Amino acid sequence: MNLLPAFRPLTADAILTKLCTIQVGRTLHLLAQTDSTNTAALALAQAGAPDGTVVIADTQTAGRGRLGRTWHSPPGQNLYCSVVFRTTPPAELLSLWLSWVPLFSALAVARAVHAPTGLTPGVKWPNDVLLNDRKLGGILCESSGTGRADGVVIVGIGLNVNARRDSFPEDLRGIATSLALEAGRPFDRAALAAALFAELEVRRDAFLRGDLDDIRREYALRCGTLGKRVRIERADRGTIEGIAEAVAPDGALCVRLENERSGMPEVIAIRAGDVTHMRAVRP
Ligand code: BTN
Repeated sequence: MNLLPAFRPLTADAILTKLCTIQVGRTLHLLAQTDSTNTAALALAQAGAPDGTVVIADTQTAGRGRLGRTWHSPPGQNLYCSVVFRTTPPAELLSLWLSWVPLFSALAVARAVHAPTGLTPGVKWPNDVLLNDRKLGGILCESSGTGRADGVVIVGIGLNVNARRDSFPEDLRGIATSLALEAGRPFDRAALAAALFAELEVRRDAFLRGDLDDIRREYALRCGTLGKRVRIERADRGTIEGIAEAVAPDGALCVRLENERSGMPEVIAIRAGDVTHMRAVRP
């Protein structure tokens, strides 16, 4: 039977024939099922896997999300992949690199979607990918045991491609979406994976060339958090509310708080936290 690309099983060949990168995805491990592609990629990185190695799975039995959450990973529908970044910047740029990898990876996902689908997702700081205010994808960067001190990072990417509304668990139905749900038609996962690896490689190379200003500008243009009133839950540091004004050169989110005592606004830099968009304050 001659299935449309969108319904074909994901294969390494289908991805490789569309791939135009030099490193990302050139070493490709395609698994029918794994617990988490991040776990598999961490193990490969520890064993010396080359820069740009990708692990991609049709389904995950224990997909991990940020902040200890799970990542819903049904078979045959979406993309679940992890990229090993081993080429790293000079020591003085290491902490900037570790701060920006999650941000430019989310930007890469949002950009990669556009050409194959015509859709234009945005980014919610730091690394959620949103479409029509619902979560389309997310990034989980991990580095334990890979040599974080050397800047080796695993970039785990989940992108909801062909998931139907009823394939999400009930608690996610109102807040998650997929490309197929938004466009009303399914998409070829192999083409999306190849586009994603290319966008990631471009941004990684731009960072390593020192083009952070361009990445920051591009990120800000895509970042739906800017100009919104936000609530941010910070581990052990309480919840704050304010207006998200900018992304700082180090990737922090600059939030203007209303100082209740003096009535004077105060801007603070947020480096980690769970952000909720409340309402736009831009005209
Ligand atoms: C988030 O919470 O937004 C991040 C989700 C990241 C999910 C991806 S799916 C592929 C990779 N493997 C995992 O276990 N998690 C990431």
